[in-house]
Parts: sequence; C-alpha cells; structure tokens
Amino acid sequence: MIRKAVFPAAGFGTRFLPATKASPKEMLPLVDKPLIQHGVEEARASGIRDMIIVTGRGKNAIEDHFDVSFELEAMLAKKGDRKLHSLVRSISDMGDFFYVRQNLPLGLGHAVLRTMDMVGEEPFAVILSDDVIDSKVPVLRQMIDVYAKYSAGAVLAIQKVPREHVPRYGIIEGRKIGKGVYEIVDMVEKPKPEKAPSDLAIIGRYILPPSIFPALQAIKPGAGGELQLTDAIRALLSEERVLGYEFEGVRYDAGTKLGFLMANISFALKDPEIGPPLREFLRKERIS
Ligand code: UTP
Repeated sequence: MIRKAVFPAAGFGTRFLPATKASPKEMLPLVDKPLIQHGVEEARASGIRDMIIVTGRGKNAIEDHFDVSFELEAMLAKKGDRKLHSLVRSISDMGDFFYVRQNLPLGLGHAVLRTMDMVGEEPFAVILSDDVIDSKVPVLRQMIDVYAKYSAGAVLAIQKVPREHVPRYGIIEGRKIGKGVYEIVDMVEKPKPEKAPSDLAIIGRYILPPSIFPALQAIKPGAGGELQLTDAIRALLSEERVLGYEFEGVRYDAGTKLGFLMANISFALKDPEIGPPLREFLRKERIS
C-alpha cells in the first residue's frame, strides 16, 4: 500500500558543527551504523522498497554508502571475510535508491516538494533519520497499520513532550478516537508554551497523500523563512482525514548532541559484543 519513502537529508546540520562541516549529519554513526541506514532499515522492515533521498552539496557520502563498493567487496572476498562481505553487500540490497538534489535548504517542506515527480500519484512515507526510534515493531509499520485501519488520508507520528519543549515542534490539536490515535483538527508550528493547543508534538515520521504536493506549492514560507511541511499538512485538514498516532517505542532526537549521545549509549548497551564491557566501564567509573 505504501511503496515509497522519502528521506530529507539536505539540511546543514548546524547543531552538529564542526562535525557536519564537510560530512553529512545523516552519516553520523549510531554505534556502527549511520543514522540514515537505521531509517532505511525501518522503511524496509515496514514493506517499503523505493527509497528516495533528498541530498545537497557535501552529501555524496550518502550515495556512496548505499551503492555497491566494488573495491571493498573485492578486498573482503580476497581475504575470505564472508561475514563482512555480506554485511557490506546487504546495504546496497536494502532497496531501490533514488536521489534528488535540493540545491538550497529552504526547509523540510521544500525538500519534500523536490520529490513530487518521483513519488507521483500515490501515498508515501517521510522519514527524518535524525529521529531515531527504538521499538519492537518498526514505527512506520505501526503507522501503516493505523493508516489502513482508519482509512486515513495522512498519519503523523506524535509524542507527548514537556511543556517547555513545545516551541521546538509542530504541535497538534486533536480528538482521541482510539488507542494512541487522534483525529487532528488543527496544528501549529513552534508555538509558545502558553499558546500551544496540547503537548503532543509531531515527530519525524509521516504518511502523506499525493495532494501534499499542490498544498506545498500553494503555501508561503513560514517560521524561519522556510517552507514548512506542517503548514502544508494543515492546509489538507479540510479535505483529508489526518491522524496523529502516539507510537510505541523510545525516541531519541539524534539531531542534537545530547540526544545523539543518549541514543548511542542505549544502542551500545544493547549490543551483544560491546554492551557488557561498556556497562562494566560505566560501573567502574561510577557513571551508572
Ligand atoms: P533539521 O530541522 O534537523 O535541520 O532537519 P538540519 O539542517 O538537518 O539541522 P540543524 O537544525 O541545522 O542542526 C530535519 C531533516 O530534514 C532535512 C535535514 O537534512 C534533516 O534530515 N532537511 C531540512 C532538508 O532536507 N532540507 C531542508 O531544507 C531542511
């Protein structure tokens, strides 16, 4: 039903400077896997085959990562390292990869609009790979199930956030219609805490209808002079059933240094190889 996922990856990643001066934020590793690979694996595990990545200047490493690395594979084959060889090969087999450039980062809405011709006339998913979500069932899979069950036009991942954090997010106003499911009646981008209609924030996973593209073409730049995806979704509210879904799982905002470190520690502690010695190190250093 949902066959395509869009990965906006053209932002400057200023909160991670200087690391992101010449390297894409989306390639920062969670233990040993780049953030964007976690996103692609989630899409794949949710039944998606077509991965559409929005890139820009300095983002070539992303294309190389999902491409076949002939030299590396030949070297690993020669050494007889089958495990690493199949690990490296499996990355380029994760789906069909398509790239489109956003020559200036004019906002998330603008990045999504760049994929209009590749997506065509079908519903699609958007994954922001700096929102890392650790869950039993992939979050996108959970959302596709809600999309089907409620015959929705769009589904947005939402999460309760502390009141003082609402100015960082798009915030929904909604009516609860099922377990974790809200019918959205309005939404506002980065409100002041006292003006926010709720504490339910939109997180980086979306299922959107193709009508989002004309809506994006029609809106004007919003908060921060950027074309805001939230503004275009808001314009859809009168014609589409837009749902918010409180997903099951733990989310890390890996677009910030603190969230990125927390995600790394949590994923590393679960790693069978490095988890036990890391736990021992933290214990010895009286960190935990
Ligand atoms: P962010 O809001 O995290 O922006 O974008 P950013 O530029 O990556 O990081 P900061 O705020 O400067 O630190 C969320 C996602 O949307 C993409 C980013 O690459 C990131 O994956 N994005 C953002 C675009 O593709 N184009 C844009 O114009 C803006």
